[in-house]
Amino acid sequence: MESALESLRQQSLARIASAKTLDDLETIRVETVGRKSGALNSFSKDFGKMGTEERAAAGKLLNAAKQAIESALDERKARFEAAAMNARLESEWVDLTIPAPGVRPGSLHPVTIIQKEIEDLFQSMGFTVLSGPEVETEYNNFDALNIPPDHPARDMQDTFWLEGGNLLRTHTSPVQVRGMQRLGPPLRMIAPGRVFRNEEVDPSHEHTFYQLEGMMVDREVSVANLIYYMKALLAGIFRRDVTVRLRPGYFPFVEPGFELDVQCLLCGGSGCPVCKQSGWLELLPCGLVHPNVLRMGGIDPDQWMGFAFGLGLTRLAMMRYQIDDIRLLQGGDLRFLTQF
Ligand code: DAH
Repeated sequence: MESALESLRQQSLARIASAKTLDDLETIRVETVGRKSGALNSFSKDFGKMGTEERAAAGKLLNAAKQAIESALDERKARFEAAAMNARLESEWVDLTIPAPGVRPGSLHPVTIIQKEIEDLFQSMGFTVLSGPEVETEYNNFDALNIPPDHPARDMQDTFWLEGGNLLRTHTSPVQVRGMQRLGPPLRMIAPGRVFRNEEVDPSHEHTFYQLEGMMVDREVSVANLIYYMKALLAGIFRRDVTVRLRPGYFPFVEPGFELDVQCLLCGGSGCPVCKQSGWLELLPCGLVHPNVLRMGGIDPDQWMGFAFGLGLTRLAMMRYQIDDIRLLQGGDLRFLTQF
């Protein structure tokens, strides 16, 4: 028995020494000192046939072998665990002394950039910047702008109606009404802001976009004044002198009403894809304020007159930065937004 035990011991220690994983060790433990099927157990079966002294001596040998194997297992196990811990410490190590990356600087939205430029320009010419609510009354959005309930002009603007009869403003023109009431004549105001239309969205149509309204009311206001300010506006935005033309345009809140076109900035009027070969870009609807609108704003049209315009801020930003899909502006994609 002694030599059989000794060779089992040697063999087991050799297996333990060459084990590669904790699982290997567990297998060896079960097969050697395991309670049920461990190889050492087979030796104690013979104990019954032995005399007392012989049994005591054999028991000692068996225990010694068992302890040697168990302590080899423990030692190797502790080494595996330490190695695993070291590997983890190495891989999860964080250098707290590296300087933090810092706050990533933001950038202004292209529409905001243009809006601020126009605000600065008009403020320098004595205009007040007003902002009106995005949820408007039907009265301010339509009636007070000389668009009566059954007038076909209401259908020109697909409206998001809200419960209770209010709506999401379809243009910034209702701020004219608020401006007349708030400021009284004479007045010069602009009102940039977000407007909403119930439109099918595609590369050139959005349900949400930006306009900038302008209005000037004084004793004598002519189409010449209107043109002067519109040219100042466009020269400020495009940073060069621009050629404009007026065409008649219909808007119920102005009389006469115009479409103000700019000679195409890319081709200089000879025709290109941007101006659809026409040489002109349609940019600025405007006109002289309709007497009914002044009256509904609390201003006597026999004493005062004015001009108004409605600039498509979103469209302008798209032209200036050559953005070919309107959906990018509201999309929130940082790859787009950080370019400005
Ligand atoms: N509110 C008009 C629209 O959104 C644009 C407009 C046209 C505004 C003529 C004006 C104006 O102030 O005089 O279609």
